[in-house]
Amino acid sequence: MSKPTPKTRGRKPPRGSFVTFEGTEGAGKSTLIAAFADLLRSRGRETVTTREPGGSSVAEKIRAVILNEPMHPWTEAFLYEAARAEHLNQTIRPALERGAIVLCDRFTDSTLAYQGAARGLDWNTLRRLNDIATDGLKPKLTVFVDIDPGRGLRDAKDPNRFEAEGVAFQTKVRKGFLRAMREEPKRFVKVTARSGTPETMAAELLGKIGRRIGVEAKTGAKR
Ligand code: TYD
Repeated sequence: MSKPTPKTRGRKPPRGSFVTFEGTEGAGKSTLIAAFADLLRSRGRETVTTREPGGSSVAEKIRAVILNEPMHPWTEAFLYEAARAEHLNQTIRPALERGAIVLCDRFTDSTLAYQGAARGLDWNTLRRLNDIATDGLKPKLTVFVDIDPGRGLRDAKDPNRFEAEGVAFQTKVRKGFLRAMREEPKRFVKVTARSGTPETMAAELLGKIGRRIGVEAKTGAKR
């Protein structure tokens, strides 16, 4: 972490827009993020794409541990949160302070869905941990890319240990995302996975959320 910031809560929110993408395995989040980033850049907006776990040097090291070795569910939860604190301070917050749009592949809702709904850890404790790791910084918007869990898993090549848990696990994960959506409906936008090409889906998404992130859907760039 760059500097310890014990008293940052209540700090002015940074200027940029923070958008996260969530979903079960095989929803095509990363392709949609890449196409959406191209579209935003073509409108003249600095756009940073990043992912969790990872997105900074230390967090990528933590990622290699989490994804490859079995461990106690709380160890897993704390490692995700540790990676998140680092990622937020090293990558996300600086980009938002420059005024960039940050598109992040997975964030706090994945902890609720995977460690909470699927692994069975206490949902509200995880919410508190998320809040501590992010210092209260929340995404402006979260795009939930919904797919039938069976369909998503069929296409997973070289499955990581979460994908290897199968459809029952992914179904619990999906329920977790739906619960998170119900709890904060204003933050979420739901899109149907693979409902078009990445480019048409990106254009549709811009139509849905452009105004909220300060970008006109049709022409020109707006701040
Ligand atoms: P990754 O290979 O990046 O999968 P995907 O392309 O589906 O995002 O692996 C990330 C895995 O980590 C994924 O299976 C979801 C899981 N995860 C959690 O369990 N908790 C979390 O907080 C996060 C961010 C991810």
